[in-house]
Amino acid sequence: MSNRTLQLGMVGGGQGAFIGAVHRTAALLDGVFALTAGALSSTPDRARASGAAIGLADDRNYPDWRTMLDAERRRDPGQRIDAVAIVTPNDTHFEIARAFAQAGFHVLCDKPLVHTSAQATELIRVVRNTGVIFAVSYNYSGYPLVRQARELIAAGAIGRIRRVCVEYHQGWLATRLEASGQKQAAWRTDPARSGAAGALGDIGSHAEQLVACVTGLELESLCVDQSTFVPGRQVDDDAAMLLRFVGGARGTLTASQVCVGAENDLRLRVWGETGGIEWRQEQPNELRVAKLGEPECLLRRGNDYLGPAARSATRLPPGHPEAFFEAFANIYRGFGAAIHAGASGLEAAAQHDFPGVLDGARGVHFIEKALESARSDARWTAARFIPPA
Ligand SMILES: NC(=O)c1ccc[n+]([C@@H]2O[C@H](COP(=O)([O-])OP(=O)(O)OC[C@H]3O[C@@H](n4cnc5c(N)ncnc54)[C@H](O)[C@@H]3O)[C@@H](O)[C@H]2O)c1
Repeated sequence: MSNRTLQLGMVGGGQGAFIGAVHRTAALLDGVFALTAGALSSTPDRARASGAAIGLADDRNYPDWRTMLDAERRRDPGQRIDAVAIVTPNDTHFEIARAFAQAGFHVLCDKPLVHTSAQATELIRVVRNTGVIFAVSYNYSGYPLVRQARELIAAGAIGRIRRVCVEYHQGWLATRLEASGQKQAAWRTDPARSGAAGALGDIGSHAEQLVACVTGLELESLCVDQSTFVPGRQVDDDAAMLLRFVGGARGTLTASQVCVGAENDLRLRVWGETGGIEWRQEQPNELRVAKLGEPECLLRRGNDYLGPAARSATRLPPGHPEAFFEAFANIYRGFGAAIHAGASGLEAAAQHDFPGVLDGARGVHFIEKALESARSDARWTAARFIPPA
């Protein structure tokens, strides 16, 4: 076991990209990682210009990910990257993740993990065979008060869960933004790149993971009403579903990108027999907790009355807001801790509290089952995820 700074390579996240810069900030926040290599864009010139702009050393600023993989592999152990962050559009995740994992590099890949369950199963197989650590950046599970909610529910603070309501509403695709060439909209609405689902995959997958992480409930079946409101759009931009969980709890999930005025409005409410919790991504430092017969209570990040999971995911005192970057950094922190601990393969995610390849695979399964239900005119569809043996 060692605590040396780990070397991170990045694929994607070039100039004008959205999430790559967030990953870089998060990875470096605690000094666990240093960014030492990258193939940051889809064309060699743009990749090299993007790497130069963030100060990558010339000999590790690669024109494409295959060159990076070959060159890093040839470096002496200790001189090569330990891990790679994959922050490219969805259609590229599988090939890049498989190649780096097969070569023995640890992988942190953004969501949704891949396009198909067959691809996810293959990644699980590679993780099993190589023992590499594999994280999926479902960043919302990194928030301290999300972890507090999870801890409260696991301790029975709201009793047996009856109802889950998760909503993820955005408005940025309320018009046909993709026709303007805006690049984040363009690939997200192209099924060849985004995957068969639109809003359902892009943000519905976050909602699914948030529910699974906080409640521990296992989805049994779902019934989905999916829409494409914007004329000419090739994927859904709005989805609503009923959920049935193993054990009897019921839920609803909405994921929409055409809600004018909504920014990144992810909310989770969970009610049990004796209480309820409510968390909102846009007010992430607060958690509302209700208990039968008592006034509602507002928990705030950074306070000593919170449990160990929330306290250890916090860097600043109360009243000094933490949010998106820090939650993302908590995923990197768990990923890095697993690498430092010499943890292996599939068990590492649960041991070090970050979403792993099994969570990514469950997310892909969820998208497939939701599409299956939507295409059969909102028929109830079995959706239980059985991890591949
Ligand atoms: N976890 C989150 O909250 C979150 C938020 C946004 C996006 N995402 C996910 O992150 C990924 C990227 O999304 P984005 O919005 O940043 O996209 P983006 O279009 O803004 O950026 C993608 C970047 O990848 C580069 N790229 C494309 N193909 C490449 C290749 N073959 N090799 C190297 N670079 C390549 C592009 O040039 C660009 O720099 C997607 O999977 C998306 O779903 C996750």
